Amino acid sequence: MKPNPNPNSPFPESLKEKLSQRGRDNALRSLQQTYKDLIDFSSNDYLGFSFNQSISELVSEKLDTYKSTHKSATGSRLLTGNYPMIEDFESYLKGYYNSEAATVFNSGYDANLGLISAIGQRQDLILYDELCHASIRDGIQLSPAKAYKFKHNDLSDLEAKLSKFKDQFDSIYVVSEYVFSMDGDDSDPEALMSLCNRFQAFFILDEAHSIGVLNRYGIDNLCFTPFARVVTFGKAFGAHGAVVLGSNELKTYLINFAKSFVYTTAPSQETTARNWASHLYLDQNAKAFETLKSIIQYFKAEVSSKHLSSCFIDSNSAIQSCVIQGNTKVKSVSKHLQKEGFDVRPILSPTVPKGKERLRFCLHSFNTKTEISEILSKLGQSITN
Ligand SMILES: Cc1ncc(COP(=O)(O)O)c(C=O)c1O
Repeated sequence: MKPNPNPNSPFPESLKEKLSQRGRDNALRSLQQTYKDLIDFSSNDYLGFSFNQSISELVSEKLDTYKSTHKSATGSRLLTGNYPMIEDFESYLKGYYNSEAATVFNSGYDANLGLISAIGQRQDLILYDELCHASIRDGIQLSPAKAYKFKHNDLSDLEAKLSKFKDQFDSIYVVSEYVFSMDGDDSDPEALMSLCNRFQAFFILDEAHSIGVLNRYGIDNLCFTPFARVVTFGKAFGAHGAVVLGSNELKTYLINFAKSFVYTTAPSQETTARNWASHLYLDQNAKAFETLKSIIQYFKAEVSSKHLSSCFIDSNSAIQSCVIQGNTKVKSVSKHLQKEGFDVRPILSPTVPKGKERLRFCLHSFNTKTEISEILSKLGQSITN
């Protein structure tokens, strides 16, 4: 028999107050329908892979090849969830990303959380860019290591901290992102890697928003090999999941100590087939990738010709952020653009610092030049009103 639902489940006053405060700050989050009828300037599906028919056909081929019958992985990778396709996919990823080993996780959040919380020991230090993603910061919170942020993309600040702390800890880890998820600007992985090498620090790079946008195969040809790289499949690959790239020893370590790998059901065969198919497609087809590059250039040129540069954060990626101060104002500009047919979302404080609220334009290979000109004209009118 179905249990009776309890209409009056208790909810603590302290949590009610936190929600009320969010409301007073005009920052209360709620789930919204995705606007499928609006022009997409907000999803992470940079290359349109989530609705690419050729990729769906490759997915079916993979599922047929592996005669996949089970719709669930049926357990953790360490128990019944380690099916042949996921092992073969990891072997493929080693070649694709030119890495000794590859370990697939359920999401980018899980990958960063599992990796970073597992590596830092009590006698270690983690230095991380102040704009690093929540998954990195949450991994740090779970780790017993000491942690300090360094100023965003500021190599001198990082160098000063490495120099100050170099003899005080067993191991120092440095974490950054190639493309930052809120500002869209990029770091200099080569310079970060060189600095880490000088101080014998271990470098971790999150490539979530650069793969498929700045490059097709991830960072390569660095002067030294990073300790770990994290590539996610939910952005340009239009799929779901992530991989941690690094040495065989790192893989063995993650299988033993990364809790978000050990204590969770493995990705399903269908998910793995899609992740694999998206990689095969990107490997064999550069067109969407090249088109996206030209769309980004066009967007930037239009921002400049419409005299909007002063409110945009400089970025060469698919993430172009227009700072509009205040949750109320940025929400109203986004509502206006949505009414005009464009899906562009506001990013509110406290997700970004107060005063740095923004409209975050995500560009795609399938956005047209006409759409870009139109949305920027409407934005110009809207912010001057
Ligand atoms: C830089 C960065 N890393 C990791 C993640 C998490 O990836 P996923 O969405 O696969 O959990 C995100 C997601 O927004 C991100 O922006």
